[in-house]
Formats: sequence, structure tokens, C-alpha cells
Amino acid sequence: MSVLPIVRWPDPRLSQVCAPVTDVVALAGVVRDLFDTMYAAPGRGLAGPQVGLMQRVFVMDPTWKDGDRSPLVCINPDVLHAAEGVAEGAEACLSIPGVSAKVTRPTEITLAYSDLSGVRHQEVLTGFAAICAQHELDHLNGVVIFDRLAPDARARFEAEYAALA
Ligand code: NI
Repeated sequence: MSVLPIVRWPDPRLSQVCAPVTDVVALAGVVRDLFDTMYAAPGRGLAGPQVGLMQRVFVMDPTWKDGDRSPLVCINPDVLHAAEGVAEGAEACLSIPGVSAKVTRPTEITLAYSDLSGVRHQEVLTGFAAICAQHELDHLNGVVIFDRLAPDARARFEAEYAALA
């Protein structure tokens, strides 16, 4: 088990677009570390750049805190379709500890991703799983919850975060 240090905002790596994964097999070890780090944090999702891995991979387990494990590895993920319906929900981020901000996102997405064998999957996600996947996919594009806020809310939450440091 390897729990890695988590990169914290405003580390510039959290604002960079990650490169596509080209060697899926080579990722197996680090994906185990991503899960170890996520569960230890404890969190429900963790993306590569949050441990300094600048590749398009994230892990999530949106239900484990409710006593039901559903680990998912998403490599080179793409949103194929997003529902028109949106909802606002409070989101936290392991890279911005102590802050929870309301973010508006589509309530349902169709996500395509590769697994650790390189097999491509397509899955419809709803509820918290849809939110979690969109939050983690944002990390692969250098986007954090602050970037999803209106300017006044962003300034407020950034000040709140700075005060915690
Ligand atoms: Ni996050």
C-alpha cells in the first residue's frame, strides 16, 4: 500500500491539461496507489494530477462511504453525452481541503473510458457518480471547483481557503 502526498491548490500542476495515457499496462501500480491515497484521504475520487501524475486517469468510488464499494478506474475518459438537466451541489476537493463550494453540472452523462486492460467502456452515470466523474475529469483538463464559480463566489471561496492555510 502506498499513500502518496496530495498536491494542493494553487500548485500549478492543478491548472495543467494532462496528456493522454499511451501505455495502459504501465499504469497498474500507480492506479493501486491512487486508490490507496483516495481511501486514506478519505475521499471518493482522485485524479492523476492530484498526485503529480500528469496523465488522463482518475479513480473513483462514489459509494464506499455508504458501506458499498464500487471502485472504478477511468483512463482517457470522454463525456460522450451530457443531459440538458443540471443541478447545483456542494463539492469538496482533496486538493482544496476545508472548502466546499456549490457547483452546477449536468445530472446525467454518458462516459467513455478505458480500463486497465485497455478495453473501452461506455457507461451512463447519474446522481453522485455523475458529479464525481465530472469533477475528476475537470482535473485532467486543469479545472478545479474554483474555476466553476462566478467571479464573486470564487473570490469569496479563495479567501476562505487562503485563511485556512
Ligand atoms: Ni478534486
